[in-house]
Amino acid sequence: MISRPKGTNDLLPAESQKFVKLTNFTHKFMKKYNVEFIRTPIFESYELFHRNGELSDMVTKETYDFLDRANRKLTLRPEGTAGIVRSYVENKIFSPGHFSSYYYIGPFFRYERPQKNRYREFYQIGVELIGNKHFTQDAELISMAYNFLKEIGIEDFKLKINYLGNHKELSKFKIDLSNYLKPLKETLSKESQLRIEKNPLRILDSKSEIDRKLLVNAPKTLDYISPKQTNEFQQTLKILDKKNISYEIDHTLVRGIDYYSEIVFEFQTSELNSSSHNAIGGGGRYNDLVNELGGPKVSGVGFAFGVERMLNLKNNLNSLPENIDIFLTYIDDEDSVDSYIIFSNLRMQNYKVYFGYKSNTLKTEIKNALGLGSKYLLIFDSKISGKGIVQVRNLQQHSQVELKYEELDAYLRENLEVKK
Ligand code: HAM
Repeated sequence: MISRPKGTNDLLPAESQKFVKLTNFTHKFMKKYNVEFIRTPIFESYELFHRNGELSDMVTKETYDFLDRANRKLTLRPEGTAGIVRSYVENKIFSPGHFSSYYYIGPFFRYERPQKNRYREFYQIGVELIGNKHFTQDAELISMAYNFLKEIGIEDFKLKINYLGNHKELSKFKIDLSNYLKPLKETLSKESQLRIEKNPLRILDSKSEIDRKLLVNAPKTLDYISPKQTNEFQQTLKILDKKNISYEIDHTLVRGIDYYSEIVFEFQTSELNSSSHNAIGGGGRYNDLVNELGGPKVSGVGFAFGVERMLNLKNNLNSLPENIDIFLTYIDDEDSVDSYIIFSNLRMQNYKVYFGYKSNTLKTEIKNALGLGSKYLLIFDSKISGKGIVQVRNLQQHSQVELKYEELDAYLRENLEVKK
């Protein structure tokens, strides 16, 4: 037997139904927010992710890099933002004075130590708003992500927010943070000791209890940002307050990827039972990435959710309406052709229909129809009702009528809202 590669998953029915509901919900949700779907390749040039100065674990330790048969150096995408920005720049889909909004759903790859909720292949649903920047976009994006979780019934999460500043502020901050940490070096965790020189920022979100205690009096990025940035950050938070979106300012939130500047945020939950991968999703602003990848000097802000984590949390995806209109079944084989033809005709007329294929008893079929949220059950039983007659059972009102086949469409049309 050949097994699936370590850290990957097969999405089987039951879970796959929830996944389909989640993606359908995403398409509807994004339409409401005027965000457009985008799809970029699963593998990209190695250089797209391994840019100068990228020190994140994701880039230095976790990418799947390979040579193709023509010796091109490629990387399986570990995250979505760089690919979307590459596409934005390459296809010149920018228009001055505007910003573009994209969402994506797809697989990502990180060579991490696999555990529950941490996989080598995982899915993300993400959004990127790219173009002229304004703090209202930060507020819009954060509330979009917040509402997304609420609408699929994920309740147990905390929204954590921090503000990093730009390259200038961050460079000064990093020097001061290093200086603060150096005298403590021997007491820090092994991992953090290695980061003091090269990437002190990442020590801030160390999960080690000892490190966290030592960090209590560490400098805070908020003390390094300009009055203009402070004001913009305050304005964003004011909008969130007005929208009753609760959040916590977390001075240690730096996020794991190096392109962030200014605002960063993360949705964390205790339900995943893990301190090292308790994030359902996160994101932030990136002021330099578009320009760094050859585009205009515009900014972007985005977030991504981990799909497996959303599916593993308590959610309402089972009860999200994805109901069918009509469930058809027949009692006797004699009626199989008629009922099948009517089923396929109804489908062509845009009714959401399901055909029972009579593998079950009527009792089970009623249960199945109710399980699919069907409004009507059509029973073909010519021995009882007569040829050309169908029993139409309203499963919500518990009533039943008998109709001739040719009366069916008019009856259903009157009783169901169907886009023709
Ligand atoms: P990220 O925080 O690296 O951000 O990933 C976003 C989410 O993907 C995480 O919060 C988590 O739910 C999920 N995730 C990450 N790694 C794994 C894994 N190994 N197994 C399962 N789930 C995982 C980004 O990727 C940024 N591109 C988000 C962003 C968009 N920032 C700006 N725009």
